Amino acid sequence: MTQPNSIPNRARTALACIAAATVLAACGGGDSTDMGSVQIFDQRTAPQKLSDWHLMSNDGKKLTLNSGVVPYDLNSSLFSDYAFKLRAVYVPPSKQIAYKADGTLDFPIGTAITKTFYYPRAASADAAYVGVARQSQAVQGDSIDLASNFLVETRILVLQPDGTWSGLPYVWDADQKDATLKVGGKDVQLELVAADGSSEKFSYGVPNAQACQQCHSTQTAGGAGILPIGPKARNLNKTYAYGNGVAENQLVHLAGLKLLAGFSGLTGAPANVDWRDTTQGLEARAKAYLDVNCAHCHSARGSAFQSGLMLDFDTIGASAPSTARWGVCKQPLAYGGPGLPYVYDIVPGQADVSLLLYRLSHTTTGDVMPPISRRVNHAEAIALMRDWISQIAGPACY
Ligand code: HEC
Ligand code: HEC
Repeated sequence: MTQPNSIPNRARTALACIAAATVLAACGGGDSTDMGSVQIFDQRTAPQKLSDWHLMSNDGKKLTLNSGVVPYDLNSSLFSDYAFKLRAVYVPPSKQIAYKADGTLDFPIGTAITKTFYYPRAASADAAYVGVARQSQAVQGDSIDLASNFLVETRILVLQPDGTWSGLPYVWDADQKDATLKVGGKDVQLELVAADGSSEKFSYGVPNAQACQQCHSTQTAGGAGILPIGPKARNLNKTYAYGNGVAENQLVHLAGLKLLAGFSGLTGAPANVDWRDTTQGLEARAKAYLDVNCAHCHSARGSAFQSGLMLDFDTIGASAPSTARWGVCKQPLAYGGPGLPYVYDIVPGQADVSLLLYRLSHTTTGDVMPPISRRVNHAEAIALMRDWISQIAGPACY
C-alpha cells in the first residue's frame, strides 16, 4: 500500500479503501470519524505506517482509538518488562464475534486486534536511554496522554481472508507521531525508574514478526498458524472504564454493541482472578499468572509441549498422579540449569531450589522464561511464586 506522498490525505484514504476492499471488503459503513474509517490489510498489503490503518489517531498530544475500535483489558495479563498496554479490537461492519465459554473467542474475517505498549515517562540522566517508570498498570480508557507517556510499539493481529491470522509489529517513531512496520523487530533502550529512585537500564525487545509464532501458535505446537491468546471469556469477564464515566463488564459491553453473538449473560460465565488481587488464594493467583504468561507455550498444543511441563490453568494444581505434569518433582528435559540443588521444576515447600522460580528470576539467555520478550525480572511475580511454592504440600523429591 505505498501511496505517493503528493496525494492529499482524503484521496489516499479513498485509494487505500478501494485497495483494502478488494482484499477484505471491510470498507464502507461502520463508524467513521474525522480519522476516516478503519482500513484492513493483510500480511502482503500491510502499510509501512500504522496511521494508514486508521485504528487510532495521534495528534501529538494524545493517542485515541478510532470509533468502532473497542478497548479491552484482561483479568490477568502478560508481563512485558513493566510496559503498560492499551488493547483494542475492531470488528468489520455487520460482523460479530461468536461467544464461547472455553478457548479463544471466534472472530470474523477482517478482525484486527491491537496492543499498544507504552510507559509512563520518568527522568533519566542518560541521554542514550528513555526514562520510564516502573509501575504496575492501573489505567484503562481509550486513549494515552502523550505528555506523560512514551509509546514503544503497537502489535496488530489481523484475521485474513483465508482464515489465518497474521502478526505485525509496528514501532513508534522517535518523534512519537506515527509507528513504522518493523518485521525484523527492534531494540529500544530504556531506563526503568522505580518509585524509590533506583533504576535499571535495559534493552526492550520488540519481537520480530517470526517470533509472534513462538507464543501465538497455541494450537499448532510452534508450527505455522497463530491465534489470539488473551480474548477468552474468562479473561474478558471484568469491568472496564471506557471513559466518559462509562464502566461496564466487557462481555456485556461487546454484546451491547452487537459485536458478540451467542452470549446469554454473565450467569455461569467463567472468570479468571487478577493475580495481583491479594484477597484471592495463592494457588488461584499463581494459576492465573502462569496461565497467561506461560501456558501459550507450556500446554499440550503450545510450542513448549515437548518439555512436558504444562502450565495451563486446568493442569496446575492437579493431584497425583498428575503432579509431575505441572512440574512437581519433575526434572527438566532440555535444560542443563545451574546444577545441584536445582534439579526439579517445583520442589514442594522449597521455592528457592525450584527451577520454575529460578528461571523466572533470571534474565540470562538459556535461563530466562519466557525465552523471548522478557529482559527484566518481574519482582511482584517472583514474590508470588515463592509464596505459592513454599506452601505446596507434597512429596519430598530427593
Ligand atoms: C513471549 C510471548 C509472546 C510473543 C513473542 C508475542 N506475543 Fe502477542 N501476546 C502474548 C500473550 C500471552 C498475549 C495475551 C496476554 C496479554 O495481552 O497480556 C498476547 C496478546 C497479543 C495481542 C492482543 C490479542 C491477543 O492475542 O491476546 C496482540 C495483537 C499480539 N499479542 C500481537 C503480537 C504480535 C504481532 C507479535 C509478534 C510481533 C507477538 N504478539 C508476539 C504473548 C506473546
Ligand atoms: C515462547 C514459549 C515459552 C514461554 C512463553 C515459556 N516457556 Fe518455558 N520453556 C519453553 C521451551 C521451548 C522450553 C524447553 C527448553 C528449555 O528448557 O529451555 C521451556 C522449558 C521450561 C522449563 C523447564 C521445563 C522442563 O521440565 O523441561 C521451565 C521450568 C519453564 N520453561 C518455565 C516457564 C515459566 C515459569 C514460564 C512463564 C513465566 C515459561 N516457561 C514460559 C518455552 C516457553
